[in-house]
Amino acid sequence: MISTDIHQAAHLLKNDAVISIPTETVYGLAGNIFSEKAIKSIFNLKKRPLSNPLIVHIGNANQLEDLVTQVPILAKKLMEKFWPGSLTLVLPKKDIVPNFVTGGKDTVAVRMPNHEQTLKLLNLLSFPLAAPSANPFSSISPTKASHVEAYFGASIPLILEGGNCQKGIESTIIGFENDTPVLYRLGSIALEDIEHEIGPVNIKNFEEHKPMAPGMMAKHYAPKTQTITTDNILESIDFYKNKKVGLLLFNQIINSENITHQEVLSFNSDLAEAASNLYAAMHRLDRLNLDIIIAEKFPENQLGRSINDRLKRATASTNTSYVFN
Ligand code: TXA
Ligand code: MG
Repeated sequence: MISTDIHQAAHLLKNDAVISIPTETVYGLAGNIFSEKAIKSIFNLKKRPLSNPLIVHIGNANQLEDLVTQVPILAKKLMEKFWPGSLTLVLPKKDIVPNFVTGGKDTVAVRMPNHEQTLKLLNLLSFPLAAPSANPFSSISPTKASHVEAYFGASIPLILEGGNCQKGIESTIIGFENDTPVLYRLGSIALEDIEHEIGPVNIKNFEEHKPMAPGMMAKHYAPKTQTITTDNILESIDFYKNKKVGLLLFNQIINSENITHQEVLSFNSDLAEAASNLYAAMHRLDRLNLDIIIAEKFPENQLGRSINDRLKRATASTNTSYVFN
């Protein structure tokens, strides 16, 4: 059920339920970090491997010190600049943070989301919320309540309606290794903006390189349209001219008779606008029974880099092993 009732949402969360919450990045599947029952059902619902840790969401920056043993000075700088917001910090965890949330790691990923209702909800609770994106493992992340309903409507008691996610792609994840800042995932804060605050960041973006066990892409996943990215959109259209083609474009439509559907992410060439429209456009294209989605490569700077990262995952997930989690 889609609802705006944060008190009902709080009541459910206090009773070990999993519900969907809006954030400024994507919708999450949320549960009490201390409830093994809730956290287990998050993993079950998503069909996500238990070793893949969850992000912990707090309603007040002061709560960070309840969860982690140390906050490096550069992390403090980032928090001051970007919280509440789409920056996730990976820091050494305190014992109080359950291993079932962190996949057994000795670090925990934490962020304070920038979404009015969800901040209100978090502040009604005496515990933080673990919330991965509200999509089955290897599916497109949700940026509208209706996306979550299509995935999980029958399996969760409540989807908190919070409108369209303004940022539209997941948070940027930063950790520290030997005091050096490390980027684990490109996201809705541009790398340039992070480096402007704290200097050079070592890029790991490790999800890309993470090996997947064979068979993890189980058959019961919904079929997804094959997706490719290209630097040369016209050449690719020509190559697939006898196919049912959908286009995912940056800033202009293409004049061609061979196209079934086109999605333009920002006619103003605004990368932030393009990011906020990305997943909804991918959901629409994926519903059209196309033979192929051809995505234009974005400029490799600012949020264009984060968009290219997600396009690369979409590309890989349909033919090899890469995934959205
Ligand atoms: O924008 C977001 O971050 C959204 C919204 C709902 O807040 N959440 C989200 O969660 O994207 P999820 O579970 O789909 O992605 C969590 C990512 C995973 O790639 C995971 O590997 C990484 O965070 N992560 C979590 N804990 C970590 C840790 N201790 N060290 C390194 N990476 C970690
Ligand atoms: Mg995810």
